[in-house]
Amino acid sequence: MLLLLLAFEWNLDWKHLGPPASWASERYCVRKIDGAGGHSSDFGLLGVPWCKSKIPVEWSKSELLFGLYDFLPVYATRPVQHNQWGTRLDHSFGLWFLARRLQPEIIIESGVHRGHSTWILRQAMPNASIITLSPEHPRSHESEGPFYVDAKAFYFTEENFTDFASMDWDQVLGDVVRHRFRVDKAKVLVFFDDHQSHLKRVQQAQQAGFKHLVFDDNYDTGSGDEYSLRQICDQLTTGGGHSCSLSSREAEVRSQRKRAWERAVDMTELCSMSGAWWGIRGEMRDNFDKIKVPISHQDHIENYKLVQSMLQIYWEVPPLASPSLSYQRAYDPARTVGPLLGEDEREVYNRLGLDKLDEWEFSEYIQMAYARLK
Ligand SMILES: C[S@@+](CC[C@H](N)C(=O)[O-])C[C@H]1O[C@@H](n2cnc3c(N)ncnc32)[C@H](O)[C@@H]1O
Ligand SMILES: *[C@@H]1O[C@H](CO)[C@@H](O)[C@H](O)[C@H]1NC(C)=O
Ligand SMILES: *[C@@H]1O[C@H](CO)[C@@H](O)[C@H](O)[C@H]1NC(C)=O
Repeated sequence: MLLLLLAFEWNLDWKHLGPPASWASERYCVRKIDGAGGHSSDFGLLGVPWCKSKIPVEWSKSELLFGLYDFLPVYATRPVQHNQWGTRLDHSFGLWFLARRLQPEIIIESGVHRGHSTWILRQAMPNASIITLSPEHPRSHESEGPFYVDAKAFYFTEENFTDFASMDWDQVLGDVVRHRFRVDKAKVLVFFDDHQSHLKRVQQAQQAGFKHLVFDDNYDTGSGDEYSLRQICDQLTTGGGHSCSLSSREAEVRSQRKRAWERAVDMTELCSMSGAWWGIRGEMRDNFDKIKVPISHQDHIENYKLVQSMLQIYWEVPPLASPSLSYQRAYDPARTVGPLLGEDEREVYNRLGLDKLDEWEFSEYIQMAYARLK
């Protein structure tokens, strides 16, 4: 009974009286760095990479928090409970929130694995047409445990697999999805979780006329297996306040952070032998690390200018909770935007039941990014 009352009071609090005062509406136009024992300036004048957004996103922090409240009971019913190699809690929420907020008629998903993210998209948009591209069908992962096949989605897998770049999108959207030639490309959301260079994907999406893109693996400078938006928008001036010197203050901070955070990179991981430090050790990585092309700093800057000229909005999904609540030790909070639930919001964290989740759920945050093209 007490529980019921509490639940009722909680529901009332959220649904009818608005969010707690501490959740006052706050527009996302300014990037905030969670202190958590590290300042962006400790990483050299580079700070934390962030593409420029011409306009702020239309949603607020309180909207994200309300979204989280709606999302958690949905997430609890996911068929793939332990989504090894795929999105976990932070990115599942980000994807669900963006899909609901943008209300696409058609969703294209590149990189499906066991189908967890297809399920997330379906929960967000029950009536949208979903097109999935992946070399294997989700059922090929049967031996690893549960998988999800969406009854209404179109699967371009196995012998029908075609890379996003080679699809005839006008034909597919027209004939397969809508039975008419023209669809509104502004109502299409593309979710990339296929570990391909973001530079390539942004260009291909623009060529196809799509505007709303979500990137799952937006790796930080010096890490990952593809040239990410974060990397592209970083390291723009030679030196840039950064040097590959192993005796610098930055090198010292990096090796300290490396000891505390699994995915932090130290100077030897950031810099190549020749001192190149853009992309990943001076390379543009692509296709799950299978392709590694050394690029000059000049090429890197050209790539940045190109991407920046195409972007209207760049926004990173915030991590759900401060590591002091979730106990995750994977990503360094000094390299991310502030979490939705800060270290002093333990009460809300517990009330949402997040304390019942394994730390594993919070350990695959990789700066999921929403990019809106002009
Ligand atoms: C990280 S998993 C996707 C996880 C899934 N989105 C989720 O969250 O549950 C990456 C997937 O991309 C697939 N893949 C590999 N190359 C691809 C390509 N060129 N286009 C689309 N998918 C690709 C892999 O087979 C794998 O299933
Ligand atoms: C989905 O379509 C059904 C049938 O047309 C409709 O009743 C329902 O309201 C729609 N759901 C959403 C979320 O749009
Ligand atoms: C490939 O597409 C054809 C034609 O739509 C379909 O009959 C076949 O079942 C598809 N194969 C797979 C593995 O989805």
